Amino acid sequence: MQQKHIIIEPSILSADFGRLADEAKRIEQAGADAIHLDVMDGHFVPNLTFGPRAVAAINRATSLPLDVHLMIYHPYDFVEAFIEAGADVVTFHFEATEDVEETLAFIRRCGKRAGLSFRPETSFSLMPRFLPMCDLVLIMTVNPGFGGQSFMPEMLEKIRLTRECCDRNLIRKGGVVVEKNQESSLPPFDIKVDGGINLETGRQCVAAGANILVSGHYLFSQKDLKSAIEILRKGL
Ligand code: DX5
Ligand code: ZN
Repeated sequence: MQQKHIIIEPSILSADFGRLADEAKRIEQAGADAIHLDVMDGHFVPNLTFGPRAVAAINRATSLPLDVHLMIYHPYDFVEAFIEAGADVVTFHFEATEDVEETLAFIRRCGKRAGLSFRPETSFSLMPRFLPMCDLVLIMTVNPGFGGQSFMPEMLEKIRLTRECCDRNLIRKGGVVVEKNQESSLPPFDIKVDGGINLETGRQCVAAGANILVSGHYLFSQKDLKSAIEILRKGL
């Protein structure tokens, strides 16, 4: 069986913030597929990072796709600014807004990929109705806010259910299949995981159905980023 291409996205959260542009170049030279940029507002999560100006500076330094992960309240209000700064993918949190549909539609109208992220405690049963409206889901495998946390193995089941839902086009309610809805047929769909991803947990997530791996602490704590990415990719 031919192996699916797995996308590796180093998270710049674990890079050197004093040299973000150089770090972006280093990530590109190391063979990554994209760069993951964590935007935190100090309210939705108890941490602060950076805004559109830093994203624009990183964008000038690399031609890699930029995946902006918004961990902020009122994401709709900031979509345009991050797209102008160079975001290719904008992902926001289901729990951060009441305007989930509007925000997804707006990102798509801007011609960018729309991602919806779910905290670990958010039940899978809330996810299926939004899948046809987005291009990817980001399943948090740690509580959002900080790099370097331990992977939550309970999330593997959420990944499995999401992949099954996308592949078989099943609409589920509370984990029970209630309807097969041909009309809402889902396009090829990305399932991204974020938090505590290393060689072992990355392999488990891919086996469960994820095809994009975000990794911060693990990749940046290895001696050489290029070989760390190669080893992660080979080991999947
Ligand atoms: C956590 C962030 C992650 C973080 C992952 O809230 O969304 O992107 O950088 O980092 P590691 O791989 O260190 O858990
Ligand atoms: Zn992230």
